[in-house]
Amino acid sequence: MLEKVQELVEKVEGYVPKSEEDLNNFRIKYLGKRGLLNNLFASFKKIPNEQKKEFGASINKLKNLVQEKIDTYIDSFEEEELVNDIDLTKPIGLDGLGSRHPISLVRNQIVEIFNRIGFIVSEGPEIEGDWHNFSALNLPQEHPARDMQDTFFIQTNPDVLLRTHTSSVQVRYMENNKPPIRTLSPGRVYRNEAISARAHCIFHQVEGLYIDENVSFADLKQTLLYFAKEMFGEKTKIRLRPSYFPFTEPSAELDIYWGLKNDSDYRITKGTGWLEILGCGMVDPNVLENCKIDSKKYSGFAFGMGIERIAMLKYGVNDLRLFFENDVRFLKQFSLI
Ligand code: PHE
Repeated sequence: MLEKVQELVEKVEGYVPKSEEDLNNFRIKYLGKRGLLNNLFASFKKIPNEQKKEFGASINKLKNLVQEKIDTYIDSFEEEELVNDIDLTKPIGLDGLGSRHPISLVRNQIVEIFNRIGFIVSEGPEIEGDWHNFSALNLPQEHPARDMQDTFFIQTNPDVLLRTHTSSVQVRYMENNKPPIRTLSPGRVYRNEAISARAHCIFHQVEGLYIDENVSFADLKQTLLYFAKEMFGEKTKIRLRPSYFPFTEPSAELDIYWGLKNDSDYRITKGTGWLEILGCGMVDPNVLENCKIDSKKYSGFAFGMGIERIAMLKYGVNDLRLFFENDVRFLKQFSLI
């Protein structure tokens, strides 16, 4: 009996299945209800007691070997089947092609418009210190205008925070470069705001900075008029409203004329026809001095806008959260733009 089991062990060891069907027959032959192993287990009682231990061990070995063989080969047949199923001559379907995110599209467009008049992109860290985000920008500790930008601080250290605007990048740029300066800082910013259709705690900005001798408010206005026309069309009208930012003096907000053609125009412009798109102003001399630029010799202007806001206007999106959810049905619509 023992020799018979030994013979089967050798046979199984040398077995190589030729096909999935062959392997299946092998399985039935050994492990099937009336298979060889069940027969061997059944003959166990007839074995003399002193041989039982050895016999038991050898049929267990045989059983494990059979199972191992099956496990080793079963996957290889499945993979082979998969490969055989792929039709390599089939044309590639293009329907799964991705698209740029609308925020990237608008950012690239803004950057391109300002590139054409000599602004170059500068980038900086999203985790900032108090100096670059606030103090250098004429916003000392305890300044009430800090409330305009609810801030996320890192742990309990008030000197480490998530930047609330990309003006911090412009401070870095001024510290490291001499005028004339024409730079554009796109990037992600963070504010501790409740998330709604109009606000989010993470959003994107593009800020611009121009510093040279004799830069005037007229230069700012012409630059912004050029931008508004490139972005929203040749007929776009703009107006500047006085405003307040600690880092610019005088400061203004730029509105574009949206019109009052339908209900939705009344709603988004609050019945005025005008829409605010950015903040701007002449760089405060204190800021220039903080960055080691001679404010007697140089002057400059700065502006900053939210990319989400521009994208909402441009594409008629009425809920800012859509830009962050990445629902493919939403994103797909931008693939042909
Ligand atoms: N940094 C301002 C903000 O984030 C925008 C701004 C930039 C305003 C430059 C004026 C000049 O709200």
